[in-house]
Formats: sequence, C-alpha cells, structure tokens
Amino acid sequence: MSNLKAELVAIVGEKYLFENSAIEEKYRLDITKKYSGNPTFLLKPVSTEQVAAILACANKHELAVTVIGGQTGTCGAAVPANGGLGLSLERMNQVLEIDQDAMTMTVEAGCILQLASEAAEEHQLLLPLDLGARGSATIGGVIGTNAGGNRVLRWGMMRDMVLGLEAVLADGTVVSSLTKMLKDNAGYNWKQLLIGSEGTLGIVTKAVVRLRPLPTTTQTALLAMDDFDNCMAVLRELGRTLSGRLSSFELMWEDFYRRMSESQVDAGAKPLPLGHTYYALIEAMGGDEHADAEQFERVLTHLLEMGLVADAVLAQSERERQALWNIREEMQHGIAPMRPFRSYDVSMGQADMPSFVAAARANLIAHYPNVEVIFYGHVGDGNLHAVVSVGELNDQIAHTLDMAIYEAVADVGGSISAEHGVGLSRAPYLTMTRSQEEIALMRTIKSALDPKNILNPGKLIPS
Ligand code: LAC
Ligand code: ZN
Repeated sequence: MSNLKAELVAIVGEKYLFENSAIEEKYRLDITKKYSGNPTFLLKPVSTEQVAAILACANKHELAVTVIGGQTGTCGAAVPANGGLGLSLERMNQVLEIDQDAMTMTVEAGCILQLASEAAEEHQLLLPLDLGARGSATIGGVIGTNAGGNRVLRWGMMRDMVLGLEAVLADGTVVSSLTKMLKDNAGYNWKQLLIGSEGTLGIVTKAVVRLRPLPTTTQTALLAMDDFDNCMAVLRELGRTLSGRLSSFELMWEDFYRRMSESQVDAGAKPLPLGHTYYALIEAMGGDEHADAEQFERVLTHLLEMGLVADAVLAQSERERQALWNIREEMQHGIAPMRPFRSYDVSMGQADMPSFVAAARANLIAHYPNVEVIFYGHVGDGNLHAVVSVGELNDQIAHTLDMAIYEAVADVGGSISAEHGVGLSRAPYLTMTRSQEEIALMRTIKSALDPKNILNPGKLIPS
C-alpha cells in the first residue's frame, strides 16, 4: 500500500476509501455529464475531524480535493480533478438541532435539502430555500454554490439564510462559528466569503440555517400575459397587493411552456392554452386561513379586469398545485427532446430582459439559423435561464453559443451566472461580466486561503 493510501485509510477506514475504477460514476459527473473526473481516491469521512485530517494530508502531498454533493450542478463545479481526492460528505447527513426559539437548524453539510426541509416542517418551521434539485442537492452544495431557486424574491438566496458555519481550511484548520445570531458585526464576515466559493476556499462541514414560521396557506396560479410590460406590472401589483406574501414569480416564454406542457402525460397539467407570449407561475404563502385565499383571488380578478393578465388558472388542490409546478420544474422530461443542449443561468435588470432575449436570439440565429432556444426563469429575481439546442454539440459549437449569450448579457450589464455558479464551464467567461480588478481580488483571496491551490483547483477562477 502506498504511503498516501495508508494515511488516508488510517483517517477514514478501509471501508470508506474507494480507489480509481472502484469509484462509482455518480461521483465523477454532474448533471450535464460534460466533464468526467478521474480522482485517485474517493473518501467518505464521517466527521469534521476526519475532513480536517484529510485536508492536512492533501495539503502536505499537494493533492487536489473536490467535495462532491448531489451532483445536480450545471457547470462542472463538483467534478473531481484527475488524480486528486474526491470527498463525499454523504455520511455527515444529520440534522443536529432544531431550535424553535431561535428558529434555527444546525445541520451537517451532507444532509439532502429536502430532508432538512421536512425536518423543519415537523417543527412547524420553514427552510425557505427551494429548488428543482431539492431531492438530491445537499446543504453543503447549496451553500457552496449560494443556491437560489424558486423563493428568492421573498426569502433571499442561501447566503441570506446562513447564520453559522463550520468549515475546514486548506491546511486542515477547523474554523467554527455555529452561532444563531442574526447580527454580528465583529470583524470580517468570513462565512459569507465561503458561501458561493464552490469549494475553492474551504470545505463547509456544518451550518446553522435560519428558519421561518411555516406558512399555513399556499395559493398557486398560472397566468398568461401577452406583453413583457404587463408581466412587470403584474409582478409589481402582486408585490404591492399581497404585502410581501408573494414567494414565487416564475416566468416562462411561450416556447418553454410548449416544450414543458407537451411532455406532461397528465392532461390536467395543461391548464392554459398555448398562444400567449408569457406564462407566469406565481405562488403566495401566508398564515391566515380565512383571508389569504380570498385576498389572492381578489388580486387575480383585479389583474384580469385591468387587462394585465389575459388568462389565469388557480390551483384548487395540492394535486393541481403540483401539476402547475411540474410544468415549470419537470425539466429533465420536458427538455429531453432538445438533447444535446447547452443551458444558461444569467441575471440582469428586469427591464433589460426583452432586449437581452432579442439580442441573444439574434446572435444565435446569426450562427445557427435553425437554433432552438427556450427562455424561462426566476424573473422576480432578475434571473433568466436559457436552454439552447442546435442538434449537435462539441467544444467549438458550445463556445459559439456561449459567446452569443454572454455578449448579450454583457451588453445589458448583467452577470454570466445568477445562481448556478461558475465551475469549469463558465470560468473562461468570468472576464465578460467581472472586471480585471475584481478577478485579481479573487485570486488574492484564493492564494491567501489556499496557497498550494489544492481546493477544487481549476474551478471558478479563470486559468
Ligand atoms: C431551474 C434550475 C435550472 O430553475 O435552476 O430550473
Ligand atoms: Zn433556477
């Protein structure tokens, strides 16, 4: 046995060390299956102490370390480096405490988001982060990427929910501040630096997550609109009249709606006819069982009467609610016929969206007249997703598509990544929406915290 392997076995035990071909495919790929890593070892530590010992060892041997979560990322950020170490925290998956007074959850990084949410609900509390990958994404993963999802407009991104953090630095130092305080201005906020750093500055092992009172009512509707200005007016009206109860405003361009509704086997899931320019899935949550539904219906009626909304359907049951959400979320099914495709996650001011969409389309058509591009996203947060298909895909085509989208984003002063992160696939484009000075600062931070560049090397920062 090599010295290195013996050191690692001494830390995690033979049962939790996997070598080369014994490493399952699910640890090598993310959801895009574009990049495949060949780590020498995959380790499954069970404690922060083990993670710390692994990092001390990796730092000594100058080995790359990548933490692998649910692998539902879309930019290769958690694909392990060739010849390095992959770390799965799947055994560190416990909800350690739910504090009903402080309204916090202390949880290990390997806990699946959905299980953490369900644990909160058992205590009548809400873990507000919600996204399509809830059944696979881990707490460590959503912290590492600063995930967003469907309810950002009300409760913010993951960074807005993290109060405390425990992390292991590149040399194996454990930094722990599992505090439940909302306010703490005592010096640099190192936790926020680690959140969204995609495993390049430290490895998160535990977090204290802020919870909210569990809403007791939910109203969900699908709206059709024929004009983008109307969509914005509807968003503003919902914000004003629902007084902060609006939790989702998911806009779908018609071609997205067509793709998704065509793929639904359940006929009940096609509640509004095709032919409108925009469809918005909206949801409000509240705590007043008598007033909330009535208020929501009144607001919808008002929007229809004002002519801002062309058509609307209101979910009357949990089943109908789920059917509406499936139109937005059953992505794997809905966009399967577009394979191979490239997907995007950009942000910009809401007012810039129509010109961005037009410019991106024109740029794509200039290269590929038969391109199919569908737009949708968390428009309430200024976040658009696009899926682009030209029938084939290789590195050169991907680059042409990337430039077509990112040039249009840069022209409106947006960002190449709203919520999915940078990883491998977007690192070469970081310069398009981040200045040289910002990237230099990122490099300064990276080299201060990880001088040997062992933490998820090659990700996030352009090479
Ligand atoms: C979504 C993922 C792709 O919003 O972020 O569907
Ligand atoms: Zn999204």
